Order: sequence, then structure tokens, then C-alpha cells
Amino acid sequence: MAMQRRVSLFIATSLDGYIADSNGEISFLDLVKADGEDYGYSDFFNTTDTVVLGRKTWDTLQTMGIENPYADKEVFVISRSKAGKSGKVTFTGLDPCALVEQLRCIPGKGIYIDGGAETVNTLIRKKLIGHMVISVIPVILGGGIRLFGEGNPLQNLKLINSRSFPTGLVQLEYVVE
Ligand SMILES: NC(=O)c1ccc[n+]([C@@H]2O[C@H](COP(=O)([O-])OP(=O)(O)OC[C@H]3O[C@@H](n4cnc5c(N)ncnc54)[C@H](OP(=O)(O)O)[C@@H]3O)[C@@H](O)[C@H]2O)c1
Repeated sequence: MAMQRRVSLFIATSLDGYIADSNGEISFLDLVKADGEDYGYSDFFNTTDTVVLGRKTWDTLQTMGIENPYADKEVFVISRSKAGKSGKVTFTGLDPCALVEQLRCIPGKGIYIDGGAETVNTLIRKKLIGHMVISVIPVILGGGIRLFGEGNPLQNLKLINSRSFPTGLVQLEYVVE
């Protein structure tokens, strides 16, 4: 079988497992903002050439005034409601699993799954995410959008790195066995 590209999740969560608060906001990430510290994001970003994300995450970026944070990457926004292509950003009605299965067979760098939870869990249910970098923010949100939903199949993870930072952020890196 030909080499398949790595499919990676790089995401931040509260200690109680939420990627956004109950208003869908991610201002809790500001708790760990630190000058000159990107928690390995740009190194990770450079290992990828393709980004897959859900339409709601895309819209959140737009409301934050970030037109396209993915620079020169090939970007696929999953949506049942929007279609079209603008530059390297494609809105696609393809099921995220079918999309990732196609993309990972095309030669290239890694595939970055940005989120959000609906997109991630759809992929996890089919065991399509092979690598995860999870940054745990030192806060309990008490509610919001859960990173991991119910009903995912058992998947054993191998911890390949863990780091902690002076801000209290703990970063866990896993490969799915
Ligand atoms: N903490 C972090 O690091 C982090 C990272 C990423 C995102 N987030 C946050 O997560 C929140 C969004 O997460 P979310 O789970 O609500 O939404 P999401 O996964 O970003 O987007 C969901 C949308 O994507 C499309 N979609 C997803 N799965 C699909 C499928 N199987 N088939 C067809 N379309 C599908 C649908 O778009 P249509 O409705 O257009 O059909 C759906 O409404 C935002 O608040 C964002 O800021 C946080």
C-alpha cells in the first residue's frame, strides 16, 4: 500500500474537555497568551500543506476578522450549506471522512484537522485521525462544545511527547496505535 499522509488534530481544550464555551467563544485561550510563545504551532503548521475544518470554525475565524489564517495551504471547509472556491479555500459538501480518505492518498505533507468538534468526531468515529496534539488550558469552563463526543470506537493512543509551559498549558502529543 502507498504511504498515506499523516492526519493530525492540533487543538486546545479546557481541562474539563471543552474547545469553546457555551457561547461558542474561545476567549479562554487568552489565558495562555504569552509573548513569543506559539506552543509549537508554527513548527506543526510547517509539517502540513492541507487544512480541513468545519464551517462553524471557519465562521468563527471570520467573526474574529481573520480572513484566512492558513496562508498558502490548501483549505477545505466542510459544509452542507455552502459551496464554492475562493483562491485555495474550497467549501465542500463531501462527507469529511470521504474527503480525508481521498486527500491522504494524494502525495504531500501532513493534513491538519483544525476542528471543530463535529468535524473531529465524524473523523474519529471512522478512525481517520492518526496523530493528535492536544493543548490543555488550565481552566474549567463548566460547559460548551465538547472536544470528544460519545460513541467513538475504542482507540489506543501512544503518548509520544508531553510538555508543560510556564503559563500552565500542558501539551500532549499522541499517535493512534
Ligand atoms: N479550542 C480550539 O482549539 C478550537 C479549534 C477549532 C474550533 N474551535 C471552536 O469550535 C466551535 C465549532 O465547532 P462545532 O463542532 O460546533 O462545528 P464545526 O465542526 O467547526 O462545524 C460544523 C459544521 O461543519 C459542517 N459539517 C461538519 N460535519 C459534517 C458532515 N459530516 N457532513 C457535512 N457537513 C459537516 C456543517 O456545516 P453546515 O452547517 O454549513 O452544513 C456543520 O454545521 C467554534 O466555536 C470554534 O471556535 C475551537
